[in-house]
Amino acid sequence: MQISRTLARQMEHSSWIRRMFEIGLQLRRERGAENVFDYSIGNPDLEPPAAVMAALRRIAAENRPRSHAYMPNAGFPEVRATMARRLAERSGIPFTGDDILMTTGAAGAINTILKAILDPGDEVIILTPYFPEYRFYIENHGGRVVTVETDEQFQPDPARIARAVTPRTRALILNSPNNPTGVIYSEKVLGEVNRVLPDPVLVICDEPYRPLTFDGAVTPEAVRIFDRAVIAWSWSKAMAIPGERIGYLALPPHLPGIAQLRGACTVANRILGYINAPAIWQWVVDAVPEVTVDVAHYQARRDLLCDALESMGYDAPRPQGAFYVFPKTPIPDDIEFIGLLQQEGILAVPGTGFGRGGYMRLSLTITRDAIERSLPGFERAIAAARSPVGQALSRTGASLR
Ligand SMILES: Cc1ncc(COP(=O)(O)O)c(C=O)c1O
Repeated sequence: MQISRTLARQMEHSSWIRRMFEIGLQLRRERGAENVFDYSIGNPDLEPPAAVMAALRRIAAENRPRSHAYMPNAGFPEVRATMARRLAERSGIPFTGDDILMTTGAAGAINTILKAILDPGDEVIILTPYFPEYRFYIENHGGRVVTVETDEQFQPDPARIARAVTPRTRALILNSPNNPTGVIYSEKVLGEVNRVLPDPVLVICDEPYRPLTFDGAVTPEAVRIFDRAVIAWSWSKAMAIPGERIGYLALPPHLPGIAQLRGACTVANRILGYINAPAIWQWVVDAVPEVTVDVAHYQARRDLLCDALESMGYDAPRPQGAFYVFPKTPIPDDIEFIGLLQQEGILAVPGTGFGRGGYMRLSLTITRDAIERSLPGFERAIAAARSPVGQALSRTGASLR
């Protein structure tokens, strides 16, 4: 059976994730699982908070009537009302249950809003380095991806964004705290971005990492800053439950054409095949206040890894949030350097996979013990990269690809 040309091309583009997965399997076979240090996947290794599991058990035991039935496509009205109340308290914007659409994670929320607003050929701006799935989400709905570089600190660059806007621009996707850089976008910069975005460009605030911040940092409230913004929220990372597929899309009540947009999103959620968000998990997130995993674990891992990498000579800025470190690779060819790390049993994702070569992403979803045992490998890899052979390889482009 022939697959579509679009999907064949997309599979080519997603080859970094596939490739790391396959290399990981091979390395585990060759070296034994305990000698492979997998920094490649953003899959929380912490267990969900105890309160979440207690609520799940309680709700399963209650066995409420019609717990497993279809419901309105936007989700249980009571759950939507709870989310609106919490969001109103946090943001000061008078959200009501009507403004909340329960979704299958942030991915479901982003696909829903894109489906609701895009016609074929419409443009969506994403900021480099970006979460690679955005490309596919946009193309799912006939959209055209427009990439715009961030500045040296990975903050949005309002002037570059302004230059990228055309009459076909429908949306800008922002992700803060950011995957892959761990940067939190500053309130000042977001305000400047708001000023350069003409009507009807909509800002899609992708916020699955919002509560995962370090050193007490607070993620600015983007829906208050932007004239036209929606929130794609998810408990995947905050509660370490990405397999449960639960999140929401929040549409602020002051958005122009809000009634039509709500209706469009509700239909989009249905016809995309999500139908509704998982029923039991809607009740669970309704029952527990906004508890999160203990961020101190990620922060301790960040400090351990960044201190060690810095002392070896890596340029590894400390992330302010999320759970990724995004160091420069010691040689410009990030794919070449990833190959040197693999020889040490270390799996990382090249910055090229996020649209920014010369960097690598290291996920902090790895135990402290594994980080400690991987450090000699990082030291040998930087030494190899700086050796005359490593320098020559990087100059000629002869690589381990
Ligand atoms: C930036 C970003 N957005 C969206 C998602 C998708 O999250 P969810 O599992 O809630 O669909 C991820 C998952 O890794 C992510 O990193």
